[in-house]
Amino acid sequence: MTDDPFPPPSPTPASGRPTARTAAVIPAAGRGVRLGPGAPKALRTLGGTPMLIHAIRAMADSRAVSLVVVVAPPDGAAEVKTLLDAHALPERTDFLVVPGGESRQESVKLGLDALPAGYDIVLVHDAARPLVPVDTVDGVIEAVRDGAPAVVPALPLADTVKQVEPAAGPDAPEPVVATPDRSLLRAVQTPQGFDRATLVRAHDTVKDNVTDDASMVEQLGLTVVTVPGHEEAFKVTRPLDLVLAEAVLARRRLNDGF
Ligand code: C5P
Repeated sequence: MTDDPFPPPSPTPASGRPTARTAAVIPAAGRGVRLGPGAPKALRTLGGTPMLIHAIRAMADSRAVSLVVVVAPPDGAAEVKTLLDAHALPERTDFLVVPGGESRQESVKLGLDALPAGYDIVLVHDAARPLVPVDTVDGVIEAVRDGAPAVVPALPLADTVKQVEPAAGPDAPEPVVATPDRSLLRAVQTPQGFDRATLVRAHDTVKDNVTDDASMVEQLGLTVVTVPGHEEAFKVTRPLDLVLAEAVLARRRLNDGF
């Protein structure tokens, strides 16, 4: 981990236009109650390494990402700094750790507030998606570089989705009120990528509680676009997801010849 949040500007490409520098914000301040009792979700281990370290490496593996801002639990910044120091991370990437807030949205905002000048593209990546492949990360960055203000990796749905109304009582069944056309629905993942100024404006403007950052940009009236997501970018939420994540890691280790 280095202390210098101001690395030298990136080289100017042949086009003469400097390549926009990219930072990743990782909100990791959630308690992960759905995984059951134990350590906060981001500190649970996968293959012996904390999930958060996997997520940080997944961002730092992209050569385009030169800064990773980790948003720690409000009282856990020192613990997260110690964790970063204890694990090998790419030398060319800088790291900052800031304390998070009560909601994911607040945590992302605190991460954005800590970003130094000079980073024009921002990725927001859930610590709970530790295994996103670097090609997915690069695909998101490329689409922002190509001019999209907000980009989400997305996958088609395997399941049909029903919209329901609240049940009439505790033992009553939920009535289904609609079946949206599945071919027009997507499950979205992270990292979501943004033009920095757009994301800052979204966080300054939208005060509704939302579950992802792209929906705040939608509320500004701007177009959010998708790029292909990846099945290994799934969110580790329930105990079964941990089993799947361990299996994905084991397969990668086998393929990498470990
Ligand atoms: O709870 P959920 O799984 O939707 O959380 C998504 C991400 O937001 C997780 O990486 C979690 O650590 C983070 N989060 C946060 N601050 C909160 C709540 C969640 O950084 N107060």
